[in-house]
Amino acid sequence: MKKFEEKKFDIPALKGISAKNIEEHLKLYSGYVKHANLILEKIEEMSKDSEKNAYALGELQRRFGFEFDGMRNHEYYFSHFEGGPKAPDAKSALRSAIEAEWGSFDGWLARFKAIAMTRGVGWAILYYDAHTDRLVNAWVDEQHLGHLTGLSPVLALDMWEHSFVADYQPSGKKNYVEDFFANLNWQTAENLFVAATAS
Ligand SMILES: [Fe+2]
Repeated sequence: MKKFEEKKFDIPALKGISAKNIEEHLKLYSGYVKHANLILEKIEEMSKDSEKNAYALGELQRRFGFEFDGMRNHEYYFSHFEGGPKAPDAKSALRSAIEAEWGSFDGWLARFKAIAMTRGVGWAILYYDAHTDRLVNAWVDEQHLGHLTGLSPVLALDMWEHSFVADYQPSGKKNYVEDFFANLNWQTAENLFVAATAS
């Protein structure tokens, strides 16, 4: 059976987010990869008697969405820090698409930051929808509840407390969001957008 492989990330020193927090956070990511693989193995095994194991299989299938999306969300998130901070340049295709959708880049940014401040644990995600050729902002509860079908994530911001509390305390959530954008290599989002629009 094919296995999901844990990715490695080359993350530079970040503003506000400590190397220790990134190290611990990467351990959580590793756990999602491990459990996504384990659940598929269990499903395979229990499917040999799917009638007897029907309830357990149903719960495992539910849990798979949590573990898989936890793995994939973190791969987007950590990739955004690679290469160091880079602001979007004026010719950026993604920036132009954001301006077309929301009127101005700063207008979108303010809205995205407000979504990130949603109470509870989850993700602020900017998606591209190839079906309608437009960008969509969304909040995803936990790792998987509210993901938009058929859309491609372009920018993913982890808003679980484990991503910031050790460095910022619970009251510093807003500063963490600001620092995420200060640390963001916009080219990583640009590359995801270009790949999504080409597919
Ligand atoms: Fe996380």
